[in-house]
Amino acid sequence: MILTASSVSDLPAIASEIISFAANARIFLFYGDMGAGKTTLIKSLCRVLGSRDNITSPTFAIVNEYEATAGKIHHFDFYRLKNQTEALDIGCEEYFYSGNYCFIEWPEKIPDMLPDHFISIHIAVLNDNSRKITLDKF
Ligand SMILES: Nc1ncnc2c1ncn2[C@@H]1O[C@H](COP(=O)(O)OP(=O)(O)OP(=O)(O)O)[C@@H](O)[C@H]1O
Ligand SMILES: [Mg+2]
Repeated sequence: MILTASSVSDLPAIASEIISFAANARIFLFYGDMGAGKTTLIKSLCRVLGSRDNITSPTFAIVNEYEATAGKIHHFDFYRLKNQTEALDIGCEEYFYSGNYCFIEWPEKIPDMLPDHFISIHIAVLNDNSRKITLDKF
């Protein structure tokens, strides 16, 4: 499925569509350049799932945890990961197989750790405010 966000104000509706499209999937991989809008879209997804927590980039912590009416949400940013062993050390596999929502930025950094089934979300910058968002289910 391909969606176009003309501005950030489109993201709440797009996030609802993504959650519906995902159905019972819980692992979401976010691909896109720095500043493409991965964290910004994840914030909207967390709101749709009923989280009122402060959603921030876990660049230094690698993983943030939020409370939501849909259960716990684990938000990863692997950009600064030095190697895949570091992901194992933070216990990524326990999170991935917990059944909780997992939103993963920079999954390219952990190619060998990814579960077999996931939703991939590619974000491409069209201009300052608009983004092409491509969803696939694996
Ligand atoms: N339609 C849009 N969707 C998402 N972000 C948008 C959109 N329009 C403008 N933006 C802006 O683009 C920026 C996206 O930054 P964000 O931190 O979400 O990127 P990121 O992909 O998570 O980058 P990083 O790889 O550094 O984590 C924000 O400043 C946001 O307000
Ligand atoms: Mg980010």
